[in-house]
Amino acid sequence: MSTDHEDRIKQFLGLMTPEEKLGQLQQLAWAWDTGPGTSSTEEAEAAARKGLLGSVLNVFGAASTNALQRIAVEETRLGIPLLFGLDVIHGYWTTFPIPLAQAAAFDPAVTETDGEIAAREARSNGVHWTFAPMMDVTHEPRWGRIAESHGEDPYLTSRYAAAKVRGHQGTDLAAPDRIAACAKHFAAYGGPEGGRDYNTVDVSEQRLRNLYLPPFKAAVDAGVASVMAAFNTISAVPAHANPHTLTRILKEEWGFDGLVVSDWTGVLELIAHGFAEDGAAAARRALGAGVDMEMVSTTFAEFGRELLARDAITEERLDDAVARVLRLKLRLGLFERPYVDESAAVTEPSPATRAAARDAATRCMVLLKNDDQTLPLRPGLRSIAVVGPLADSGDLLGTWTVPDAQRRFPAVTVAEGMRAAVPQAHIVCVPTGTATGAAADSAGQAEAVTAAASADFTVVAVGEPPALSGEAAVRSDLELPGDQRELIAAVAATGKPFAVVLFAGRPLVIGDWLDSAPAVLLAWHPGLEAGHALADLLTGAVSPGGKLPTSFPRAVGQIPVHYNHERTGRPYDPAQPDEKYVSKYLDLADGPQFPFGHGLSYTTFTTGEPSLSRTGIPADQLSDGATVEVTISVRNTGDRAGDEVVQLYVHDLAADIVQPVRRLRGFERVTLGPGESTVVLFRLGAEDFGYWTNDPEGVFVLERGAIDIYAGNSSTARKCSRLTIN
Ligand code: GLC
Repeated sequence: MSTDHEDRIKQFLGLMTPEEKLGQLQQLAWAWDTGPGTSSTEEAEAAARKGLLGSVLNVFGAASTNALQRIAVEETRLGIPLLFGLDVIHGYWTTFPIPLAQAAAFDPAVTETDGEIAAREARSNGVHWTFAPMMDVTHEPRWGRIAESHGEDPYLTSRYAAAKVRGHQGTDLAAPDRIAACAKHFAAYGGPEGGRDYNTVDVSEQRLRNLYLPPFKAAVDAGVASVMAAFNTISAVPAHANPHTLTRILKEEWGFDGLVVSDWTGVLELIAHGFAEDGAAAARRALGAGVDMEMVSTTFAEFGRELLARDAITEERLDDAVARVLRLKLRLGLFERPYVDESAAVTEPSPATRAAARDAATRCMVLLKNDDQTLPLRPGLRSIAVVGPLADSGDLLGTWTVPDAQRRFPAVTVAEGMRAAVPQAHIVCVPTGTATGAAADSAGQAEAVTAAASADFTVVAVGEPPALSGEAAVRSDLELPGDQRELIAAVAATGKPFAVVLFAGRPLVIGDWLDSAPAVLLAWHPGLEAGHALADLLTGAVSPGGKLPTSFPRAVGQIPVHYNHERTGRPYDPAQPDEKYVSKYLDLADGPQFPFGHGLSYTTFTTGEPSLSRTGIPADQLSDGATVEVTISVRNTGDRAGDEVVQLYVHDLAADIVQPVRRLRGFERVTLGPGESTVVLFRLGAEDFGYWTNDPEGVFVLERGAIDIYAGNSSTARKCSRLTIN
């Protein structure tokens, strides 16, 4: 903490009235890029003018934010500047692939670049604070917000969370190209029963601490400026009023000195949860548990004075919350520079940021299947058909785009990308129906099939549109919406070569048409440069190297299916498929359609056995910081350059808290030319071998015993070496 900042905070606290203090804890919504004076913003404008407002969200635009800021700074008693927040989740004007896609790159630098570019574009338009990165680990593809997540693994998510915080915040929050980040949603929001958004999460302490919390700890260690509370309950105590997570763990155990903001009306929703009788109780329980700022609902402002008067909340807690708000404003430099330079506002993507988004998209896409080297396209094709509901769609940016981004800067379409990449070929584009499963899905299918029958190659662009992805977009059926499966079958029936390009914000169930598709390239929702990135991969200009950050289920009935599962006392053994009394389905093959870490290349690779610097190590040496070095060789055994992600997993064979069959504890993406090889080095320490127990006080244990260390290019890696902790 800066002593100068702390001194100034003390001065302000000494000057502020209780109403002004409570005002700093209030965040109200704005109406995007509009200045004061419109009917939809009068509540926020009036509160700002009275000095009773701390922050505004859903505001952007240099002129608009400056006009609103002048009210707070120049028309109020203390002139405390406002904090402007906006959801900049995967890009501002330059929309990057959705976070789930970025995780598929297995390259945190992708998300750090996204964070840097988004920060520069957002801050220049008056935004100080983004509500990102979202770091909810999830095993729930039905849950639409898996699109914003980084998948099913806490280690991968932790690496990305820290990288995004670095990208957004840099080393100086006061810099004109940096913004405050927000670790969300605290906590365990990714575990809703039934995959239904906002639904119940009942979780043991060990699963909370081993699966859901590690990314938040990584974000706090990376210096994240704020944390957002989650809508769900955590074992029947709402996250918005949970002192165990918000204060005991986050603020006391981890020493977090930043700001905890509620989610949208999350405080008032304590009444709907059945946790608070009324608004006053909601305010008391949320503020008392550790929420510092209330987003949109106004219980703190409405009932704070009464609660203080009857000691239902303490002056100390109120001052602590106000201090956290002022601390963030001081760190952002808002007192010195409350306004932005309107002439310097970034108004559109640049060639450089487009190139970065294109590179990111190529690194995120995952080649799921490629029989007989169907891809990349052979040189010299004379005609290429691009068909399907997403063949010429610009709506591929993904969920959570900045308002106006979709209208002003839609995605490059598949057809546009192919025309630019293969100018010598005749590209026929036949859009078919919609991708939402609405009516008229089959419109154009006959024309599409005719085009496929006469083309040298066909790209079938299918999937789910962003409208079926994101918050409150939960699907109970994960098949391709509408008649898209029929389109694939009809194209396959032509007997001509084709590949399926799959757009999605989640894992989909793709079992029934997979056999008829010779190649499937998962494009996710790839953002602004979608079409160009796709063409780069389809033509082979770039070799795909993405890996799945989340398992693809064979059927919805199989969910949850994830690699980091417990073994059970009766595990399924593929060597004995007919064994009855084991953990399996009667009507479904074992395991996911595609496992965590899966992804093909246009070349082939081999990875060697994990080589350990030592096969045994005393537990107390590990606890003192000793590490075991693991080296893994990898070779490109094919005839073209490509990327491989070397993955390292550990498994504790016997522990007092049963451990997952695999835990990812290292990954590195390498680029190798034909015949080239390299050796990747990982260092494993106590944090890689130990685990949290069910003790609510937070007990991390490192046990003696055997640890299997696996190396390979997916979570099904077989090559293993054993370490003994003694
Ligand atoms: C939404 C989301 C949260 C977002 C907030 C502000 O409901 O849950 O992630 O940051 O409201 O838009």
